[in-house]
Amino acid sequence: MFPTHRPRRLRQHPQLRRMVQETLVTQADLIYPLFAVPGEGFAKEVSSMPGVYQLSVDKIVEEAKEVYDLGIPAIILFGIPADKDTDATGAWHDCGIVQQATTAVKEAVPDLVVIVDTCLCEYTSHGHCGYLEVGDLSGRVLNDPTLELLKKTAVAQAKAGADIIAPSGMMDGFVQAIRAGLDESGFEDTPILSYAAKYASAYYGPFRDAAESAPQFGDRRTYQMDPANGTEALKEIELDIAEGADMLMVKPALAYMDIIWRVKQATNLPVAAYNVSGEYSMVKAAALNGWVDEQKVVMETMTSFKRSGADLILTYHAKDVARWIG
Ligand code: PBG
Ligand code: ZN
Repeated sequence: MFPTHRPRRLRQHPQLRRMVQETLVTQADLIYPLFAVPGEGFAKEVSSMPGVYQLSVDKIVEEAKEVYDLGIPAIILFGIPADKDTDATGAWHDCGIVQQATTAVKEAVPDLVVIVDTCLCEYTSHGHCGYLEVGDLSGRVLNDPTLELLKKTAVAQAKAGADIIAPSGMMDGFVQAIRAGLDESGFEDTPILSYAAKYASAYYGPFRDAAESAPQFGDRRTYQMDPANGTEALKEIELDIAEGADMLMVKPALAYMDIIWRVKQATNLPVAAYNVSGEYSMVKAAALNGWVDEQKVVMETMTSFKRSGADLILTYHAKDVARWIG
């Protein structure tokens, strides 16, 4: 017997395939990460992330213009301060590097949405995402003292002009603390994009080169999630929603597509997927060796993020993707 149902009928012509295509990646889905460093006229490529640079504020502004002209609506800023200390002063100081970059970008490209990563790991001398008991070498971050610092950081970032606050440290109650801080300071309308389900992942390796934020001892497993857990991600998002998150993030993306799907099914909030540094570097390395077709592999991956439920994609490929879509 020949088959009655022939799905191949709708695959016979390129235009027909276009008509039945379910998922489309557009520029509006993309968020481009940038790394701000002190200085002027400074651009240094990150050795483990070809095509990604640490940039001084003037260069960040140039880059922001390019990103905007490519039709990408938003950037997310990370900062590498001149000095690190146990109080993460560089994170919450009014003259902090991210605050400087934010103000400069908003002045030059007011219509570009500036998201700021709100965490302490780039600013602490030990590289952990929070406050440690002085002399503690176990890396066990103290939750509630960290909330105070995160609150200060978010307010300083909002004052500098940040459009969206994105806390990434996986501290308990961080959305609530930051929401309170923003509201008390007159930033009731500044949204929070919570890194709600962030896993303790080896895929962050190259980012820690870029942000110079590797923990000096211990690891992040007392605050970031165990890659073995899926249901726990739903607990995390439930709490963040209750605390007032406006958008939710799943991170990393590629090895966690089931989590993206489950989070999207469980909430009406916009969901962002962070296509992290290690995912980027693996594709870049293979592409530079001629082992995979970079454009095809990246576009397939982006499409799959959207198919799995992501509304937004944070990716180091964003500029390339925007160009390829045309
Ligand atoms: C820090 C932070 C990390 C990333 C973004 N913010 C990683 C970490 O836990 O060290 C990772 C991004 C990437 O790998 O691209 N809270
Ligand atoms: Zn951190």
